[in-house]
Amino acid sequence: MIEIKNLHVKIADTDTMILNGVNLTVKAGEVAAIMGPNGSGKSTLSYVMAGKSDYEVTQGDILFNGESILEMEPDERAVAGLFLAFQYPLEIPGVPTMNFLKAALNSQRKARGQDELTTPDFIRKVKGAAQHLGIDMTMLKRPLNVGFSGGEKKRAEILQMSLLEPKFCVLDETDSGLDIDALKIVSDGVNALRTPERGFLVITHYQRLLDHIVPDSVHVLYKGRIIKSGDKSLALHLEENGYADVIKEVA
Ligand SMILES: Nc1ncnc2c1ncn2[C@@H]1O[C@H](COP(=O)(O)OP(=O)(O)OP(=O)(O)O)[C@@H](O)[C@H]1O
Ligand SMILES: [Mg+2]
Repeated sequence: MIEIKNLHVKIADTDTMILNGVNLTVKAGEVAAIMGPNGSGKSTLSYVMAGKSDYEVTQGDILFNGESILEMEPDERAVAGLFLAFQYPLEIPGVPTMNFLKAALNSQRKARGQDELTTPDFIRKVKGAAQHLGIDMTMLKRPLNVGFSGGEKKRAEILQMSLLEPKFCVLDETDSGLDIDALKIVSDGVNALRTPERGFLVITHYQRLLDHIVPDSVHVLYKGRIIKSGDKSLALHLEENGYADVIKEVA
C-alpha cells in the first residue's frame, strides 16, 4: 500500500540532509510503528508524506498503491486517502472546529464525486464520533485547536481521522500529552479504524502506546535511515535497553 523507496530528503534551499535512504513498505491492513531517538527524522518523514513544502526529495520515491505521490499537492494526497496527524497540531484562529471538519469532509467528498453531507447528517456523524472519543460538543464550537490542551488537540486529530476515513494514516506521537484514560480512548479510536484495507504508520517513543495499538512491525529510524526492523518484541527490547545496542550494531 505504501512503499517508501531509498528516500533522501533535505531541507529546501539548504544542503542539510535529514533522510538518507529510507526504505519501508507498509501493506494494507498493517500497522507499522516507527521509533527512534529525538531528531532522527521521524516527523520529517511524516511531513514529506503529507507534502509539506519545507522539504525537498533529492532521491527515491514514495508510492501509494503503486503510484508516486511526490508530484501531488497536499490536498490531492488527502483526497487519495492519505491522512497525517501532526505531532504539533496547528491552531486555526477564527474557524470553529465543527466548520473546519465539515469543510474538510465535504471537500474530500466533492473531489471524490460524492454528494456533500447535509448539516443534520454531518452533525449526527460528528456527534457519534465525538462521543466515542470522549470529546465534548462545546469544544467543537471553539476555533480549531486554539487553547485546546495537548490531549484535546490529539483527540481532535483522531476525530478528524475517524470522520475522513482515510486509507492510510500517519500518526506522529499521537500519544504525547495524553492522560492515561485518553491514551486508551484514542487507541481504541485508532483500533476501531483498523481494517484489512487500511494501513497505519504510528510514530511513537513509548512501548505503552503499542500495548494498546499492537503493531505488526516496528522500525528504528536513526540519522535518517531505518537501522533495524522487527516485530512488536523489538519495541519491548528498546524499552528495556534503550537504543545504544541497536545503534552499536550499525556503527
Ligand atoms: N526546517 C528545518 N530547519 C532546520 N532543521 C530542521 C528542519 N526540520 C527538521 N530539522 C532537523 O532535522 C532533524 C530531524 O527532525 P525531526 O523533527 O524529523 O525529528 P524526529 O525524529 O521527529 O524527533 P522527535 O522524536 O524529537 O520528534 C532534527 O535535527 C531537526 O532539527
Ligand atoms: Mg517528531
